[in-house]
Amino acid sequence: MMDQAKRLRERVRQSKPVKEQRKTRIIAVTSGKGGVGKSNFALNFALSLVKQNKKVLLFDVDLGFANVDVLLGRSAKESIATMLEKELSVWDIIEEGPNGLWFISGGTGFHDMFRLDEAKLNTFFTQLSSLQGHVDYIILDTGAGLSVENLRFIMAADDVILVTTPEPTAITDAYAVVKMVYARDRNIHIKLMVNQCTSEKEGIQTADNFKRVTEQFLNKRIEHLGFIPSDAHVTSSVKKQMPFFLAFPNCPASKAVEQVTYEYLQLPVPFKLGVKGFLLKMLSI
Ligand SMILES: Nc1ncnc2c1ncn2[C@@H]1O[C@H](COP(=O)(O)OP(=O)(O)O)[C@@H](O)[C@H]1O
Ligand SMILES: [Mg+2]
Repeated sequence: MMDQAKRLRERVRQSKPVKEQRKTRIIAVTSGKGGVGKSNFALNFALSLVKQNKKVLLFDVDLGFANVDVLLGRSAKESIATMLEKELSVWDIIEEGPNGLWFISGGTGFHDMFRLDEAKLNTFFTQLSSLQGHVDYIILDTGAGLSVENLRFIMAADDVILVTTPEPTAITDAYAVVKMVYARDRNIHIKLMVNQCTSEKEGIQTADNFKRVTEQFLNKRIEHLGFIPSDAHVTSSVKKQMPFFLAFPNCPASKAVEQVTYEYLQLPVPFKLGVKGFLLKMLSI
């Protein structure tokens, strides 16, 4: 694996530069615990960025529970798994979602990515590199928790949005992710998103407590990106298999996502890895 990764790093470095039109930024949306609303947030945040005229690719990399296509009411024909199997290009597996949102499904079998043979791993990195400059954001809907694969995505992304609910179990698991990440690299930018709050007060309190604990025990400041209320429109849009941001654009959750998007776009852009940088970092972890 080490030799293989080293050779691949060389190849990614040497691959031809594309004519860069956009500065592609990679955002990992992650959580400690499953079921906190990560996929719903990733999808609706992506659609909200699209509304702000950004070109966005949503990439489902939840290795155990990939379900962005279910939330969209679409069954993706191709996936990363079939791209590797059938030697397709990344452009063959991108699906066009609503309002021009692009998405890629992980597909089953994807979890063995880092155990792939060299040729397949090479295809994966070459194909992904070719996305550079074509989109403004690649949003990764990662799995929950502390798997090695998740950590790779988190550590290599430009931004990490950590989703939690106010529940103590979700918070404890989110904290475990922060601790693990900072034990490896203290320069990762983690932004906290509190989902399913019963009130604004609860959202702020949850974030404040979380920030206090990370400052006290890890000596690190976490940014609070925002919160989304618990909203019955989310559940009903999941049942309809239509993103709430489109099905109910004026519901409290949609308004909150819009606010989070606004906050996100105001943030300074401290450093820029781009797709190649992301891939190189993934290979070196
Ligand atoms: N803001 C919210 N308000 C109400 N229910 C929510 C909200 N966010 C998520 N949910 C519920 O939680 C479920 C799990 O969400 P999902 O995005 O699939 O979580 P994850 O990707 O973290 O596993 C959804 O099907 C929905 O019923
Ligand atoms: Mg999910």
